[in-house]
Amino acid sequence: MPLITFAGRTYQASSQRPLLETLLSHRLTVPHSCRSGYCHSCLMKVEKGKVPACSQQSLNIDKVQQGYFLACLCRPEQDMEISLAKRDTVPGIITGKTRLTSTLIALDIAPRHPVDYQPGQLITLWTTDSPPSASQPSGRSNNSNELARPCYLASLAEQDKPLTVHIQRRANDQFSQWAHDCTQIGQKISISDVRGTKIYQNLSSNNLIVVQDGCLAPILPLLRKLYASSATTRKSVQLILQVDHKDNLYGMTLINRLAQQQPDFTVQVCCGLQGKKQLETILGKSGSSSELPDSRLIISGYQDFIKQYTQQVQMDILLLPYS
Ligand code: FES
Repeated sequence: MPLITFAGRTYQASSQRPLLETLLSHRLTVPHSCRSGYCHSCLMKVEKGKVPACSQQSLNIDKVQQGYFLACLCRPEQDMEISLAKRDTVPGIITGKTRLTSTLIALDIAPRHPVDYQPGQLITLWTTDSPPSASQPSGRSNNSNELARPCYLASLAEQDKPLTVHIQRRANDQFSQWAHDCTQIGQKISISDVRGTKIYQNLSSNNLIVVQDGCLAPILPLLRKLYASSATTRKSVQLILQVDHKDNLYGMTLINRLAQQQPDFTVQVCCGLQGKKQLETILGKSGSSSELPDSRLIISGYQDFIKQYTQQVQMDILLLPYS
């Protein structure tokens, strides 16, 4: 059994069990939230020894080289000495709160220092404010009362002063409940860890973008950037919005305006059960088409949705997963 040294003491770990669970079972303080490699709140650093490569997969090359890893994805294979990662957070203030649908809000956040980001990237938000209920653990770091959540940025850095994020209310997610029920203008919030795919740089000539319910945040700034008046490189975009109910559509003012103004932009809504069949047909045709040599599928949604709709597609695929 590998031995793990942390904060001056040594613990027995298991290669069958995530290191995060081992540390928590000893009542050690390790920030965490999603336990699935998505939020990055359990970031740690290896001081001696080697971490399994799978615990570094979603980190950028700088972090990998410096020995950072995610404790929730780390099943230790050898003895290690580890420490908590130093978290660089930017303090911010909530400056706006808008209801987008019955389960989705937008929060505007003014950071104290400028934050550099691109369409398709996300940030982790942190709060030590009290959540509405302490009965559900997900979304809560065990470091005092911290709650953490990764959120895609819906704003465009070149044009918007505040950072905007869209937050879906989810059962078993205290952060989303806190964001919906407890946030107010003027409230403090912390920001860390800008990361994720820069979609604008990864576009091809013909892009098919499929977005599931409530996942428009990374796409709206991409469309704004792509069709800004100064943009010179034209790319064709076919946007497909898949929703269970039309009440879950939002952002349609911008989308419909672009569809009217831009000849190389089209939008299609696939709604309800029939919409799912429509989407399968579209992806079936696009995936096997050889008429679009430089084409890419950008798919934004929850893991099971992404899995289901990418199986049949042969195109070059870019994934924007939600946990
Ligand atoms: S708890 Fe490890 S990445 Fe979220």
